[in-house]
Amino acid sequence: MGTSKGSSLLREIREVAERVDAFIHENFKAFPDFLQKACLHTVKAGGKRLRPFLVVKSCEICGGSSEKALPAAAAIELIHTFTLVHDDIMDRGEIRRGAPSVFVKWGIPVAILAGDLLFSRALEVFASCSLDPSTKFEVMAEMARVTSSICEGQAMDLSFTRPKEIPKEGEYIEMISKKTASLFASCCKIGAVIARADEKYVQALTQYGFSLGLAFQIVDDVLNIVGTEEELGKPVASDIREGKATLPVIKTLEKKPELHKLLLKEALEDSEVEQFINAIRECGALDECRSMAKAFVEEAKRHLEPFPASRTKALLLQLADFIVERRY
Ligand code: IPE
Ligand code: IPE
Ligand code: MG
Ligand code: MG
Repeated sequence: MGTSKGSSLLREIREVAERVDAFIHENFKAFPDFLQKACLHTVKAGGKRLRPFLVVKSCEICGGSSEKALPAAAAIELIHTFTLVHDDIMDRGEIRRGAPSVFVKWGIPVAILAGDLLFSRALEVFASCSLDPSTKFEVMAEMARVTSSICEGQAMDLSFTRPKEIPKEGEYIEMISKKTASLFASCCKIGAVIARADEKYVQALTQYGFSLGLAFQIVDDVLNIVGTEEELGKPVASDIREGKATLPVIKTLEKKPELHKLLLKEALEDSEVEQFINAIRECGALDECRSMAKAFVEEAKRHLEPFPASRTKALLLQLADFIVERRY
């Protein structure tokens, strides 16, 4: 993102991130001390803070103040962090945000507890904010619903791990709808609800977030193959080593079904990982995935059409492009 348009987006994301982080650090409490450290380790390690940005900007585009959206934005980032801490246990992801993941540093039992506490404190911190009770109730119900959806998506993800039968693309889309796009959609919905926007705008933003989230996860799966650990802050090629039927893998196996046996193998040799990656690169699967992500991003942008031109709308449109162009 070397363009001036891109850097203004990144600057705005950083500004929201600083306010959200300050809110988290003022309000997040866990006891004993090692649990506090384990909970905040991943928060402090970095992260793009895209989800709180979506909450805040969705509130702003509907005429609400960013201040009012801050507690929800912080709670959403805590919920996201909880899912990352548990996801790393499930995926054996040893590096997260450029640092050792929580289970590597403190062990699986503490990582389970830290994840649980990140979730419960997210709700607790949000519950004590000063929004009116009916808005607060609606937002908390949405947070509970989306967390259930993420669990369902993660369960599907597990069933797509070393699968005897390769999932269909439609099943992959259902899985990423639940594990990733649902949270992007909820971020936007929550921002709009806090602004007390008309239903039409709540719906439009929810759909924008959902399409954005689909594109986001497809790109995440592509970057797991072509990215670098330095840029991503997490391991590359781990999906292949873990036998995950991601979209690039599904598309490759359609063309080269003989590679299925590699996906089923428990511990792949480095040369086998390389063979798989070369096959993915050569068969055109990555371009197909990028085209699909681009189509979802264009769909996301179309959902913003009901909103009049504004600086916030421009940022949300830029964010959509960033989702497919990003390298981290
Ligand atoms: C990682 O999300 C989890 C996925 C849904 C792919 P991000 O890539 O937004 O993670 P951070 O917050 O920037 O670390
Ligand atoms: C992330 O899925 C989804 C959730 C954490 C709910 P992945 O397992 O694909 O994400 P990364 O690549 O580890 O960040
Ligand atoms: Mg996972
Ligand atoms: Mg993972």
